[in-house]
Amino acid sequence: MPFTITFVTNADKVVSVADKANLLRTSIREKGGIPFKCGAGICGTCKCKIEKGLENTDAIKDRERNHLSEADFAAGHRMACQTFVHGDIAVSWIPLALRPTATARTSGSGPASAPPSQ
Ligand code: FES
Repeated sequence: MPFTITFVTNADKVVSVADKANLLRTSIREKGGIPFKCGAGICGTCKCKIEKGLENTDAIKDRERNHLSEADFAAGHRMACQTFVHGDIAVSWIPLALRPTATARTSGSGPASAPPSQ
């Protein structure tokens, strides 16, 4: 039975899905906009929040537990590449540009310059 996925962070874009579908694959195919890198549960980039319809997602995978805590799951967070959807959901995410980066976390904390060589 067809259902819809609403990509909240992408101006509430709504797409219709014909059958059980992987959330990230659907986002890529329909230009939903969920950020990703590996597509395999490794990088953590596809972290998202199921705003509505969490009951329409499948069971949490072990790979998701590498990036998300029980508190995250309780709040509706999932890894899009590991999540299959079988009914209406609405999903949001933090855009990559607004996420802390390794560069931002470490900037200014290292030595200003290498010591001069003699
Ligand atoms: S895209 Fe890398 S963990 Fe989902």
